[in-house]
Amino acid sequence: MERLRYQLKSLEKIPVKVWKSSVDGCQHVARSIALAIRQKQQEGEKIVLGLATGSSPIQVYHELVRLHKEEGLSFQNVVTFNLDEYYPLQPDAPQSYVRFMHDYLFDHVDIKPENIHIPDGTIPMDKVESYCAAYEKEIDARGGLDIQLLGIGRTGHIGFNEPGSWEHSETRLVRLDAITRKDALKDFPHEEDVPYRAITMGIKSIMKAKTIYLLGWGEHKAAVLKRAIEGPVTASVPSTFLQKHPNVKAHLDQSAASELARFQSPWLIGMCNWDEDLICQAVIWLSQKLNKPILKLTDEDYAENSLSDLIIEEDSAYNINIRIFNRLQHTITGWPGGKPNADDTTRPERAKPARKRVVIFSPHPDDDVISMGGTFLRLVDQGHEVHVAYQTSGNIAVHDHDARRFIEFLQETVKNGDSEKVAEMQAHYQNMIDFLDQKDSGQEDNGEIRRIKGLIRRGEARAAARFTGLDDKHIHFLDMPFYETGSPRKKPLGDDDIDVVAELLEKIKPHQVYGAGDLADPHGTHRVCIEAIFGAFEKLKSQSWVKDCWLWLYRGAWHEWPVHEIEMAVPLSPAELRKKRQAIFMHQSQKDRPPFPGTDEREFWQRAEDRNQATAKAYRSLGLAEYEAMETFRRWKFEE
Ligand code: F6R
Repeated sequence: MERLRYQLKSLEKIPVKVWKSSVDGCQHVARSIALAIRQKQQEGEKIVLGLATGSSPIQVYHELVRLHKEEGLSFQNVVTFNLDEYYPLQPDAPQSYVRFMHDYLFDHVDIKPENIHIPDGTIPMDKVESYCAAYEKEIDARGGLDIQLLGIGRTGHIGFNEPGSWEHSETRLVRLDAITRKDALKDFPHEEDVPYRAITMGIKSIMKAKTIYLLGWGEHKAAVLKRAIEGPVTASVPSTFLQKHPNVKAHLDQSAASELARFQSPWLIGMCNWDEDLICQAVIWLSQKLNKPILKLTDEDYAENSLSDLIIEEDSAYNINIRIFNRLQHTITGWPGGKPNADDTTRPERAKPARKRVVIFSPHPDDDVISMGGTFLRLVDQGHEVHVAYQTSGNIAVHDHDARRFIEFLQETVKNGDSEKVAEMQAHYQNMIDFLDQKDSGQEDNGEIRRIKGLIRRGEARAAARFTGLDDKHIHFLDMPFYETGSPRKKPLGDDDIDVVAELLEKIKPHQVYGAGDLADPHGTHRVCIEAIFGAFEKLKSQSWVKDCWLWLYRGAWHEWPVHEIEMAVPLSPAELRKKRQAIFMHQSQKDRPPFPGTDEREFWQRAEDRNQATAKAYRSLGLAEYEAMETFRRWKFEE
């Protein structure tokens, strides 16, 4: 253990704590902050917090608010300085960090307004320099930052210190990297709305903090975190400067930590406790590294690539190769609901009951067909009772011009006639059109427009589900309340969200459930949706049917499971892939660029096909059969 710790230390130059989930990690960080606040209170002192915005700290703020409301944590002695703000941007803009901080924290706790500091995005250009110098001075005057919270950007930025930032930089006006502007598209409706600049605290300002917590959740952060934590210190990845801080800790979930050497290839670091999962990971790694099918790997290949321990323990490459090859072979099935009357000892799903009740949960109205459209089609074709449950309305991602088209259509339908009722409806629709006409770019929609946008997506979801052969009474819209804020910023998961999921499950009593186990969603919606499913199962666990209910996780539109984690791979023929594409096409409002599009420029059907074909290729290069495409799943075991 000592040896491993030493070896990890030499690779990981920022201490890392890996949490099972971001919720656990955020609760821990929030409690550490609460403890520090209380300690200072006892000493009659103020505490100075450096705060970040973005998706990373949101759950920390939720927990701090809970601690205030339920456990009496006071913020009277808290002084805050935020890292950054877009420039130029009005404080009341939906994307401003002033608004963010008030929405998530300040409006829900007893902090004194005069103790809040957030860079001002409205300062005239000729005053920015002196303003930044004064901000920096004010931090020092308040005694310096006791704790700094940080997220990390894909460029490796902390605050908005983009690649090239100087180690001695202080608060200043900076230009945003093109990648950062693309990432900001999760908050801004269109690229042209994203500011080109920001005011940010500098590297030196951050490094002066006494304690730093770096937060990273989700696989989309894994690559940059590996560079920040294991890479050489360099201005081209500004977060690497944190390696020089005496009291910094990175809090990561398993997906964000997944590219660290200790998880990706622990055999390169030292001795491993080999179990079947780790052996499978190592064999796939070796096969991919050498570009050789598994059954062709030799004793020498293992020995020359730090895997000789495995050969010693297992006798020969031949034995290991066959075993792992068979394990992968057994993940492949054309019968995702189980093959009736077949021996199921090595199949991913049970043969019985032959006709299963299945619920497919789809966080947004199109994730079902994008992520598992081929499997969906097979489940229906193979005679299972399939239900689909759309967890959120997805109304954020509909363009105003699409909403307008539908409102005008409604207006046309009531054009004829001169009754009072017709006039009233005409006026009603005209009001909606006027709202859209006068709407500023980025302004939130009112309730009526949100409803229209939600209905547009409902219609599309219905069309796609019907296309897969589903009966209308098996299509469920849950409209989970956490999503209905009118902006990309969502409420925390509440009991009411868990209840709607639990109610449906209890009604159907399924044998099989599919959920999006995708933690890379930039808006965090998938994360909340899967938490709601876990919460519902927790609530229902005493019911007898739950013991026979298996939960399969699929990945959303962003990443695929690494091959060694796949437990069920459903092959798609070229014809099935085409049919899946047609189902995705039913989501017309999502074609081309939907609002708040995120970073990937490809359309959803292209992403889905690229991903499914890449998985089939990965299986093929490991030496398994060649398929056109594959959808993959991992079973969630509740004791995990
Ligand atoms: C926010 C900030 C940024 C973010 C980073 C990660 O105040 O300074 O550095 O922490 O861009 O953003 P999220 O957390 O949204 O992935």
